[in-house]
Amino acid sequence: SCDETAISIIDARGGFGAPKIKVLGNQLFSQASIHAQYGGVFPNVAKREHGKSLISLLKLALKEAKILEKKKKPILSEKDEDFYTKTLSREYELLEQFLVFIKTAQKPKIDAIAVTEGPGLEPALWVGINFAKALSYAWNLPLIPINHMEGHIVAALLENSQKKDKISIPKINFPVLALLISGGHTELVLMKNWLTYKILGSTRDDAVGEAFDKVARMLKLPYPGGPHISRLAESVADESSRYKLPRPMLRSDDYDFSFSGLKTAVLYTVKKIPRLTNKIKAEIANEFENSVVEVLLTKTLRAASQYKVKTILIGGGVSANKRIRKQFKEAILKLPDTNFYVPNQELSTDNALMIAVAAYFRTMTNIPNKKAKAKNIILKEDKKKASLTASGNLSL
Ligand code: KG4
Ligand code: ZN
Repeated sequence: SCDETAISIIDARGGFGAPKIKVLGNQLFSQASIHAQYGGVFPNVAKREHGKSLISLLKLALKEAKILEKKKKPILSEKDEDFYTKTLSREYELLEQFLVFIKTAQKPKIDAIAVTEGPGLEPALWVGINFAKALSYAWNLPLIPINHMEGHIVAALLENSQKKDKISIPKINFPVLALLISGGHTELVLMKNWLTYKILGSTRDDAVGEAFDKVARMLKLPYPGGPHISRLAESVADESSRYKLPRPMLRSDDYDFSFSGLKTAVLYTVKKIPRLTNKIKAEIANEFENSVVEVLLTKTLRAASQYKVKTILIGGGVSANKRIRKQFKEAILKLPDTNFYVPNQELSTDNALMIAVAAYFRTMTNIPNKKAKAKNIILKEDKKKASLTASGNLSL
């Protein structure tokens, strides 16, 4: 959906009651170092890199799952080649690799394909959607469109057992309040049941991850800035700072957020400093993080109390932030009868496992997703399997 290309293969069973997930293959390629030179994600570069990586990642994931086999006779009909050429006409490098792969690789034992169809970076999303479309045609498999933010919600609930490839999902108590914090989103979402969402509030301008990245740039830190700000802030022993920053919309009587003013306040602070030493950078990073945590936590706790939620979870790239995790945990621990879930560090940022598990949950609901961009992909002749593709109407 942005600058991570990822493919995951799972075996899932047990339904909503006792879901059991086995991770058969899980591969991820991050383009972060490629975009670092531009100071942010460059859409056309992201699109090209996804196209270049998808077939090798797919092969790696299939190999890891031990289901990559060669076809006895490499064949590709003219009609099929036409379909792939049309579907992947804008992804030239991907098309070339796709044709070779599909001609030579045996259809693996897979029941369905899921793809994130947004929200995210449009040119990047389309590479994934078109690739999934071509694969679903080639292997005659249903295709499940998945909302990226739903993936981030699911990621918070994935618990590793002792065996690293086995994942369980706890029995959660509703209502659930989800705080989604990523490079593109800042949202408080209320879930009264599995896969039903009401957005209580969202950012009116910059997403919190975007603010982390922009502030990092002001402090001359590399992209993506979130982890760098986080590390710098950690190095400040004394919580109090010489630099005071605002707490935007802390007391507004809604659940919206705004981070653009905070970012501008950092800019003015930085402009007044003749020489940005590492110590000063760390103090600013620390105060910026304190402001973000205070606003996010205050609003989350207020919403939790108003809606009498029994579970709070956080998800999205920014939930990898140590201070956010720690302060949320400490505050929620004090609430009576409220559970708190946060994704494993590596599942906080974008990954394919969360999309695969969300797809498993989607197959258990039966509400057609009228808005899905990928809906025309369902193969008409595949009526029996079509029920699998029914996916809930996403309001995120
Ligand atoms: O969910 P994600 O991987 O991609 C989007 O859906 O946007 O989130 C990426 C965002 C970036 O803005 C990145 O700077 C931020 O998550 N991020 C962090 C941390 N790790 C990643 N922000 C703060 N602290 C971190 N440790
Ligand atoms: Zn994300």
